[in-house]
Amino acid sequence: MEYRHLGKTGIRVSELSFGSWVTFHNQADVKAAVDMMSAAYEAGVNFFDNAEVYAGGKSEEVMGAALKQLGWRRGSYLVSTKIYWGLHDNVNERNTLNRKRLIEGINGSLERLQLDYVDLLYCHRPDKTTPIEETVWAMHNIIEWGKAIYWGTSEWSAAEIVSAIEIAERHHLHKPVTEQPVYNLFERHRFSREYERVYKDHGYGSTIWSPLASGLLTGKYSQGIPADSRGALEGYDWLHDQLTDKEKLAKVRALEPISEELGCTLSQLALAWCLKNPYVSSVITGASRVEQVHENMKAAEVAPKLTPEILERIDKIFEIKKEEDD
Ligand SMILES: NC(=O)c1ccc[n+]([C@@H]2O[C@H](COP(=O)([O-])OP(=O)(O)OC[C@H]3O[C@@H](n4cnc5c(N)ncnc54)[C@H](OP(=O)(O)O)[C@@H]3O)[C@@H](O)[C@H]2O)c1
Repeated sequence: MEYRHLGKTGIRVSELSFGSWVTFHNQADVKAAVDMMSAAYEAGVNFFDNAEVYAGGKSEEVMGAALKQLGWRRGSYLVSTKIYWGLHDNVNERNTLNRKRLIEGINGSLERLQLDYVDLLYCHRPDKTTPIEETVWAMHNIIEWGKAIYWGTSEWSAAEIVSAIEIAERHHLHKPVTEQPVYNLFERHRFSREYERVYKDHGYGSTIWSPLASGLLTGKYSQGIPADSRGALEGYDWLHDQLTDKEKLAKVRALEPISEELGCTLSQLALAWCLKNPYVSSVITGASRVEQVHENMKAAEVAPKLTPEILERIDKIFEIKKEEDD
C-alpha cells in the first residue's frame, strides 16, 4: 500500500481507503464492520470514510462501535464524516451548511462515532443559500475547537471551491484541503476537466467515491441484478437503470480480456485504473463482505501493470479520445 499526501497537506492517506455508504447498518452489523475494517487496516488502509446521513446516523454508530472493539491507536488511522443533508425534516436542518447546523452536526457525529475528533470533515454538497463565507468560518471554528483536523468539500463546483479557499486566505482561516468527487471509468469528465486547475493551482487533494460505479464495474450485473447485491436492496431502485444499462454492461464485458491478461479481476482492474491518476489522493472502496475487501486491496498490486498501452486500450473501450481527458 502506498500513502499519498492529501493534496499539499502534510497528512498522508492510503491510496486505497474504506467507506461505509449503503453497507454499514443496512448490510453489515458491527461484527461484519469489524471484520472488514480489520481486513482493510491489515492491508494498510489508514482512512475510513463515513457521513452523518448514511443509514440516518446508524452508519456512524456502527463504525464507532467497531473502532471501540478494534482498539487501534488513534494516531494510526483517520476517520472522516460529512454534513449537509441532515437527519431531521426541519427548517435549518435539511440540505444546509449554515453555521448552527454544522456545529450541531459535528457534535452529533462525534457522539455517534464515540470519537473526540474526526480527521476530515466534509461539506457533503454545496449549499446555494448559505454564504460560503459563513460555512468557511464555521468549519474554521470547528477545527480551532479541536473537533476536526482538516476540512474538505464534496461535489462542489471548482468555482465554489476556489471561492472558499480565497475567503479563507483573506481572513487567515483554515482552508478546505480536499474534494470528494465521484470518479470511475464511467464518470471521469468532471474530475479530469473541471477540477484540474484546482488540483494544479491550489494543491487540492481528492478522495474519490464509487470507484466501481456501485458494483457495475465488477461484472456482477452482466446477467441481471443478483439477489445479494446493492442493486437488489430496498430503496436503491434508483440505481437499477445504470446497473442494467446494456451499453455500459457491454463496456464492462470488453474489459474482461484485459483483466485476464493481467491476471486480475475486473474489480481490481477498475480500482487500479483510478489509482493511476496522480490527482487522486485516495480511492475510497466500498464492500458488503470481507472477501470483497481482500479482493479489492490487491488492486494496489495491479496498478503498476497498467502501462500506457493498456490505458489506451481501456480508453478505446470507453470511447475516450486522448484530448478529451487531458
Ligand atoms: N461524497 C459522496 O457524495 C459519496 C457518495 C457515495 C459514496 N461515497 C463514499 O465512497 C465509498 C465507496 O463508494 P461505493 O460504495 O459506491 O463504492 P463502489 O466501489 O462503487 O461500490 C461498492 C459496492 O460494490 C460491491 N463490490 C465491491 N467490491 C466488490 C467485489 N470485489 N466483488 C463484487 N462486488 C463488489 C459491493 O456491493 P454489493 O456486494 O452489495 O453488491 C460494494 O458495497 C462509500 O462507502 C462512501 O464512503 C461518498
